[in-house]
Amino acid sequence: MFKFHQMKHIFEILDKMRCLRKRSTVSFLGVLVIFLLFMNLYIEDSYVLEGDKQLIRETSTHQLNSERYVHTFKDLSNFSGAINVTYRYLAATPLQRKRYLTIGLSSVKRKKGNYLLETIKSIFEQSSYEELKEISVVVHLADFNSSWRDAMVQDITQKFAHHIIAGRLMVIHAPEEYYPILDGLKRNYNDPEDRVKFRSKQNVDYAFLLNFCANTSDYYVMLEDDVRCSKNFLTAIKKVIASLEGTYWVTLEFSKLGYIGKLYHSHDLPRLAHFLLMFYQEMPCDWLLTHFRGLLAQKNVIRFKPSLFQHMGYYSSYKGTENKLKDDDFEEESFDIPDNPPASLYTNMNVFENYEASKAYSSVDEYFWGKPPSTGDVFVIVFENPIIIKKIKVNTGTEDRQNDILHHGALDVGENVMPSKRRRQCSTYLRLGEFKNGNFEMSVNFCI
Ligand SMILES: *[C@@H]1O[C@H](CO)[C@@H](O)[C@H](O)[C@H]1NC(C)=O
Ligand SMILES: *[C@@H]1O[C@H](CO)[C@@H](O)[C@H](O)[C@H]1NC(C)=O
Ligand SMILES: *[C@@H]1O[C@H](CO)[C@@H](O)[C@H](O)[C@H]1NC(C)=O
Ligand SMILES: *[C@@H]1O[C@H](CO)[C@@H](O)[C@H](O)[C@H]1NC(C)=O
Repeated sequence: MFKFHQMKHIFEILDKMRCLRKRSTVSFLGVLVIFLLFMNLYIEDSYVLEGDKQLIRETSTHQLNSERYVHTFKDLSNFSGAINVTYRYLAATPLQRKRYLTIGLSSVKRKKGNYLLETIKSIFEQSSYEELKEISVVVHLADFNSSWRDAMVQDITQKFAHHIIAGRLMVIHAPEEYYPILDGLKRNYNDPEDRVKFRSKQNVDYAFLLNFCANTSDYYVMLEDDVRCSKNFLTAIKKVIASLEGTYWVTLEFSKLGYIGKLYHSHDLPRLAHFLLMFYQEMPCDWLLTHFRGLLAQKNVIRFKPSLFQHMGYYSSYKGTENKLKDDDFEEESFDIPDNPPASLYTNMNVFENYEASKAYSSVDEYFWGKPPSTGDVFVIVFENPIIIKKIKVNTGTEDRQNDILHHGALDVGENVMPSKRRRQCSTYLRLGEFKNGNFEMSVNFCI
């Protein structure tokens, strides 16, 4: 019988600081090596991240019939350009400088329940003073009912005046005249007419929001208007983005629900806005955004656990029907996202399918999976730059099969990589310790 074994490593090397920059002229690379003696491994499904960098160029020749399209769509030939919408600023002071992250939400009048104020409150409350300096929040009040908008603006300005003055909260509205036709649309999926109208308008609401946010920051995350945030979500997002440096991604997901916690590079927003407008009547936004990612050649979902955003609404915005969907991966406090420094990974164990060594090191929910190892097998991490390591954490196995772990192994740190084609080795090694119950964890403070 053929038995596969698997190993799950999560390397968490926290709070790295770059040291030895000044000494970097010396050819000096650190290496961590794990010597593996025995292990038991098992199978589990996982997302696979592929760094497929090929961009698909849009070549679209859409026939647009309606008069009203022309207003919004005449510049469709240039997808990286902004859509020419004159927004109403309902509450805003001019943005003094670009931020790191823009948080966008679009809101319409609901039949039952309104969670917008709580959502805004949660964003600000869960952020530290330092984090607040790096975010801007843009709220698109997208309902055509102006008395509802006026009432909302009054509430928002009363509660969050100091955030508006600080330029970190903007409330905008895109006038109805910019919207394409919303009546008599296609009835795809046999959706009822008012459902089609609701979801089609929502796509346009989001498109105009994204279009507005294209140059307010480096990154953009979409929230809905009924969301609770986890503590210091910005710091967690920054760690994740830093850990993905050098890899190709279009969408990062920090929640598994709807259009919550989906993060983009701001430079992709004009194109995403055009895309939502172009297909606004075809399907709901959360389906369109999956297509967007696929068309830009990110094949797999890149989702992070724990989720940073939770759905708090009890009633949905569509007709006030019940919507109790909750994200069971949400954690409000205390998470431990690794910020692994750039490194190359190598193992002489046989890799199962495409569960390569590098997957043990990414902050995405994925892992390395090897076939049974032999005594003396190694798993090597070669850091690209000299660093200070604060913490090392290696996990093997998962919760469901607690005995399928690395039973015997040790972690060594080495220096001075010797040039060799086949296998990278160091001139000296120092043993930091042995694995216990399949795990290794150590708070340290040294430079390699
Ligand atoms: C498209 O728009 C971008 C951004 O506004 C601009 O830099 C570029 O020159 C435009 N390209 C064309 C072909 O008009
Ligand atoms: C944007 O639209 C307005 C009229 O709605 C027009 O006056 C202006 O020239 C347009 N700007 C661009 C860059 O197309
Ligand atoms: C607009 O909203 C206000 C307040 O929510 C409501 O009283 C009014 O009936 C609405 N108007 C229309 C046309 O729906
Ligand atoms: C963003 O672009 C708009 C229009 O192109 C411009 O009016 C605005 O000042 C820009 N904002 C920033 C922060 O650069």
